Amino acid sequence: MSRIVYVNGAYLPEEEACVSVFDRGFLMADGVYEVTSVLDGRLIDFDGHARRLQRSLDALEMANPLGRDELLEIHRELVRRNGLDEGMVYLQVTRGAADRDFVYPEGARPTVVLFTQAKALSDNPAAATGISVISIPDIRWGRRDIKTVQLLYPSMGKMMARQAGADDAWMVEDGYVTEGTSNNAHIVKDGRIVTRHLGNDILHGITRAAVLRFAADNAVEIEERPFTLDEAKAADEAFITSASAFVMPVVRIDDTPLGDGRPGPVAGRLRAIYLAEMRRAAV
Ligand code: PDD
Repeated sequence: MSRIVYVNGAYLPEEEACVSVFDRGFLMADGVYEVTSVLDGRLIDFDGHARRLQRSLDALEMANPLGRDELLEIHRELVRRNGLDEGMVYLQVTRGAADRDFVYPEGARPTVVLFTQAKALSDNPAAATGISVISIPDIRWGRRDIKTVQLLYPSMGKMMARQAGADDAWMVEDGYVTEGTSNNAHIVKDGRIVTRHLGNDILHGITRAAVLRFAADNAVEIEERPFTLDEAKAADEAFITSASAFVMPVVRIDDTPLGDGRPGPVAGRLRAIYLAEMRRAAV
């Protein structure tokens, strides 16, 4: 099955799509990305992702080659050309190709690549059973709020989880949980959500923001502050949020089952609300 991918203005069969070996995304991880989910052939929270893309580009003094409307059009066109009903659209913008140098090149043209990935997201069986996570040290750099393509440590973290027989890993710094390898981490104690505050230590999840908004609308109390690994293990329930997992219950951290070891009611309810509301607002 060959997809149609977007590269710098052209829609091409994936076998024909290519970028330069001098691309700084390839040489230096000098690029940023977004993952937007698709349900019923429509984009979930597109504007949230477009805004965060701009924020990441600004932080790296990288030009945005496309406006919001043009970007939306490309997303929609790719969904259409690939007949995508459910899955993700991946978008990457790099500083472009230039002779290798640590200094940002002047006048390089940003590289823009988008492709689709078909995947069953809403009927994910893991939502019914919950997932297990291990804890690993967070040894990433200090600007985790920029969504860069430097994903080697998160990738290593997923492999450590797999080798330990778990589904994912939560990263811990100075005793406090930062986030999951590719998602934001939340716990629930006495009906209240505790989730790390925004800053440079975590990615400002688009799903996190929407889920916290829905929680507040439904009178669920939220505390945005750091929480320790021990506090997480003593929580009534836990969950992760991301564009591809939506709201996913966590039922075990390292060797400790949470609550009765089954998905909790707060995560279940928020998943249902998130899916219903976001489907309605999809573009
Ligand atoms: N990952 N934290 C990290 C480190 C992430 O990589 C992600 C997303 C999130 C959640 O952000 P959002 O809700 O905006 O998806 C938090 C994407 C899905 C990925 O890399 O595939």
